[in-house]
Amino acid sequence: MILLFAGACLGHLVLMILSHNWWYGLALPRKAGTIIHLIHALLIVAFPVALIEAYPFLTPPLGEGSEAGGDWSQLATFYILLCAAIGFLALPIDTLLRLRRRDPSLNRQSRILDVAKHLGRLPIGDDKERFLAYLPGNEIFEIELVERTLALPRLPDAWDGLTILHLSDLHFKGTPNRDYFRFVMDRCADWQPDLVALTGDIADSTRHMRWIVPVLGRLRWRIAAFAILGNHDHWLDVSYIRRRLRRTGMNVLVNNWQKIEVRGEPMVVVGHEGPWLHSEPDLRDCPREPFRLCLSHTPDNTRWARSHGVDLMLSGHVHGGQIRFPLFGSVLVPSRHGRRYDCGVFNESPTLLHVSRGVSGDHPIRYLCRPEVTLLTLRRA
Ligand SMILES: [Fe+2]
Repeated sequence: MILLFAGACLGHLVLMILSHNWWYGLALPRKAGTIIHLIHALLIVAFPVALIEAYPFLTPPLGEGSEAGGDWSQLATFYILLCAAIGFLALPIDTLLRLRRRDPSLNRQSRILDVAKHLGRLPIGDDKERFLAYLPGNEIFEIELVERTLALPRLPDAWDGLTILHLSDLHFKGTPNRDYFRFVMDRCADWQPDLVALTGDIADSTRHMRWIVPVLGRLRWRIAAFAILGNHDHWLDVSYIRRRLRRTGMNVLVNNWQKIEVRGEPMVVVGHEGPWLHSEPDLRDCPREPFRLCLSHTPDNTRWARSHGVDLMLSGHVHGGQIRFPLFGSVLVPSRHGRRYDCGVFNESPTLLHVSRGVSGDHPIRYLCRPEVTLLTLRRA
């Protein structure tokens, strides 16, 4: 019975996390997040308490002799057994399948820079949650510079070796401070990428929107840079953020597309700011033939990208879960797909999807999930 109790609690926890992640993938007002947190926390705690209350000392066996008779008792028993099945079967199977998943990147290498060590001080800043930065083992200042090589079947020959710097989720809000971001942008500039793609969640407060020009202005690129906004930006003054981004020389895609020339070949770059700022871009007049690169804040737009012939989609938003567990991986991932697209590369033919863990986050805490910036090198498959 103890085993059944443990399995049921674990399964219930999984269901609540799935529900939490799903709600967080929707375009809800900012304050709704706190309510969602509270409701799910309450339901997680209430379940084992209610279970013990309904089945004192977990005897008699479930479904027999329960004082709560009738339909409710049957319904409760069904839910408990469902939770136990999820806890004992679905969760381990899902974890095993995730561990077996192959990274479609041709090559991946990375180096980790402890920004605090390089600066000679902790770039703590002044956010109200800055105390989290002092937690032992917190990785928020350990940026991972990732280099990935991706094979793409429709890549023009002239683009073999083309590089894209993918940045996401800077979350300017005080912690880490500006020195941290300056350091990271300087390392990105050292890469000298051909293109830059910034996939949203740039600022988290009106005061910190002023960091955009001095920080992102340090980036360098050979051909063009593109930016879209994320859900955290849309809670601020979006036109001000866009103006500041344009001052850095970036093309800001307001849920639309642009055709550019790259090494003599056409490329269509699409910005998808849905579901927060708009529903979805209108591609009716967009030429079909050129290679399509899509910047979408959330990976939840993958289905849209596949149905619109996107070759490469770059996303962020989910931060890799921020706190990951050995073998098990991520838990809290704000996506309608749960943790399916938490970070990395996914082959969703005809679309190849890259999801960045982001440079920072709403809360300055990360475990087994370092912040990242990524240089993607494209090769013809
Ligand atoms: Fe974010």
